[in-house]
Amino acid sequence: MDKNIRLDVNHMMADMLGEQYGITKAQLAAMESAAAAAQRAVQKNRGTGWLGWTELPYNQEEIVAHIERVAARVRKEYEAFVVLGIGGSALGPIAVHQALNHLHYNELPADKRPGPRFYVEDNIDPERMAALLDVIDVAKTCFCIITKSGATAETMSQYLIISEALKAKVGDGWAKQVIAVTDKEKGNLIKLAKEEGFETFVIPDGVGGRFSELCPVGLVPAACCGIDIRAMLAGAAAMDERCKSEDMMKNPALLEAVLQYVACEQMGRNIQVMLPYADSLKTIADWFCQLWAESLGKNVRRDGTPCHAGQTPAKALGVTDQHSQLQLYNEGPFDKVITFIKVENFRATTVIPHGCEQFKDVAFLGGMTHNTLIEAERQGTEYALYVNRRMNQTIVMPEVSAYTVGQLLYFFEMATAYEGELLNIDAFNQPGVETSKRATYAILGNKDEKYDAARKEMTGRPAFKAEYIL
Ligand code: PA5
Repeated sequence: MDKNIRLDVNHMMADMLGEQYGITKAQLAAMESAAAAAQRAVQKNRGTGWLGWTELPYNQEEIVAHIERVAARVRKEYEAFVVLGIGGSALGPIAVHQALNHLHYNELPADKRPGPRFYVEDNIDPERMAALLDVIDVAKTCFCIITKSGATAETMSQYLIISEALKAKVGDGWAKQVIAVTDKEKGNLIKLAKEEGFETFVIPDGVGGRFSELCPVGLVPAACCGIDIRAMLAGAAAMDERCKSEDMMKNPALLEAVLQYVACEQMGRNIQVMLPYADSLKTIADWFCQLWAESLGKNVRRDGTPCHAGQTPAKALGVTDQHSQLQLYNEGPFDKVITFIKVENFRATTVIPHGCEQFKDVAFLGGMTHNTLIEAERQGTEYALYVNRRMNQTIVMPEVSAYTVGQLLYFFEMATAYEGELLNIDAFNQPGVETSKRATYAILGNKDEKYDAARKEMTGRPAFKAEYIL
């Protein structure tokens, strides 16, 4: 079986949808030189600056061997494995685990699971930590603290709670149960790791949070839950190879970036809905949403001119959301591109038994499989979108495996980097999240003078009016 994922963009094109609703060959031709320049820029700068992630499929041999040694110990010694992290330090581990492990992994008996039960604590909802502590035995749990900056308040607050719980329950040897994944020198976590002697993995320079799934951020949790991380990296390398061409018709990530650019900037399709038809890929859509949103939502171009760039990513699940969102996609505003993810070979076949012969519209299902039904429903949805002249495209995965997931992650990362080039924005920063962080610290009474401005700004806000609070 050919294990390459494929991008089918037929339903994006005017050939299919007509000139008013689809992208014409002339529009693509007009993008040729910008696309080639975007590819050249990424290619020329790969491995440098914030493009450090481009080299991850190739430069981690020793790190992978180290991860595998630690993971073998974790799988043997612990009942549970808990990631403390948020944003780019959590969404990748969640997505890969859901894609590649059993859909009810934690409920499987220990001898049927390739690793300890797996939890990712990516929020500070007070009920969440209490709930976690209700279901794990702290003494039999490995905690993996992931933070690139080593300073994220959410993650470090969780660290304080967990380290106290560990000290209370385990005593002297508590630090053996902690793995730190962080920057080699910046931030507090690396200092703590050195002080306490935590097993430590470094997030390499040039690898930002949302581009970090293929470094220890993603590889440590994946390996600890029995995932073949070498196959993931091989998949990423295979996709990288397919992104070597300046010709968008030979480079799937470049074609994807160009189509979304034209769809959004020229044709008003400023929302992209990621719609996998597979439960295993549901949280890949979450991961994609962060990557696309945080990278491309910017208010200034690299030359300093103001803008409000960025296509809004949204997530849905096939077929579930056919019964929730599809009405809007078919008949609502012409502001969306729908990206299906289709799986050709599922890891299970579910046969629908014969029965209910008295009801024709139930009986006809007998003898089919859920495999045929889900794909028929996907095709039906694709057809309905076509009839309604809605742009859509399909990423075809021959199967969901470590190799194809590695390709998929790298495909989206490359498409994001190219899109940043086309938009001429910095796809690797996130200044827009700073205002809320500064305000939070000011609200919490942090006396550091760097929060003075936020404190002053906040007191200058008009008072809330009672008439608007019902
Ligand atoms: O993509 C990003 O850079 C962010 O989403 C970060 O991953 C997130 O804010 C968490 O940061 P850190 O890993 O420093 O704790």
